[in-house]
Amino acid sequence: MEQLGFWEVEVPRKVVNVASVPQRSPFRYPGGKTWLVPRIRQWLAGYFPKPRFFIEPFAGGAIAGLTVAFENLAETVLLVEKDEQVAAVWDTVIVDDGGAEWLANEIVNFNLNLKTAKDLILSRPKLTRKIAFKTIIQNRINHGGILADGAGLLKNGENGKGILSRWYPQTLKRRILDISGVKEQIRFRRGDGFQTIKKYLYNPNVVFFIDPPYTASKKKAGTRLYKYHQINHEKLFELMSKVNGDFLMTYDDADEVRSLALKYRFETRLVAMNNTHHATMTELVIGRDLSWLGRR
Ligand SMILES: C[S@@+](CC[C@H](N)C(=O)[O-])C[C@H]1O[C@@H](n2cnc3c(N)ncnc32)[C@H](O)[C@@H]1O
Repeated sequence: MEQLGFWEVEVPRKVVNVASVPQRSPFRYPGGKTWLVPRIRQWLAGYFPKPRFFIEPFAGGAIAGLTVAFENLAETVLLVEKDEQVAAVWDTVIVDDGGAEWLANEIVNFNLNLKTAKDLILSRPKLTRKIAFKTIIQNRINHGGILADGAGLLKNGENGKGILSRWYPQTLKRRILDISGVKEQIRFRRGDGFQTIKKYLYNPNVVFFIDPPYTASKKKAGTRLYKYHQINHEKLFELMSKVNGDFLMTYDDADEVRSLALKYRFETRLVAMNNTHHATMTELVIGRDLSWLGRR
């Protein structure tokens, strides 16, 4: 049994079956939040009327924001992402008129093999649409979906068969076109999540879903997973203490994170999740009032 703070109640260790959650994102994302989707639904179910804005300032694969848009749990979803490659995909699918259709067609018409994959990965496209296409391919065939510099091709990819192991062009096409179908409800902003948080800080009709790169603890998994992994976690907690609306944060369970939560008098709960190797682990969910998560 883990040591829990006196303010903390452990959430039942029923692990979400991620297969039961619709996969909406075109990305395979390290730290993807599929396992948290039922909790996000539970959180927003408590809102009437629904929040004006659901903001995901560190969007990545944006599983939370996409779910909220598809299930109409907030009026508008605002995604923010700093990584140029990831941002190119969201720009193409959400902002660029006709971009989603273009990207979906490129994907289904691409003849993926070791040579075409290597050529594409070595290319340096300038146009946003082309960067988006390269990003999707790279994300599918790199080890663990990692986009950070230095991430190798899938381990068994060298024989040409391995790189096809996660290549589902029709599925990707459908996901991209489906997202485009709800894009009236989604806004995307390329840039720094902190700026967006500050902009909406005093708006009471906003909820923030905060899933930052995990670099607050000594384990620092985020360092090798993301190009942009340096963020000021103390500053983030301080900002969250000022929001007029509501927020939910998710972090790895580390002493440094718990100290920050304690300092700002936030509640914390451990929630069970499956990691990418299907082992059951726990992550820390942080908020101002987590009573909606229920008790043991
Ligand atoms: C833990 S991941 C988010 C994963 C996402 N919740 C999902 O389910 O796929 C964190 C993301 O924040 C991005 N990021 C890092 N610093 C940022 C910043 N200052 N502003 C916006 N995005 C940032 C990283 O590029 C990365 O994509």
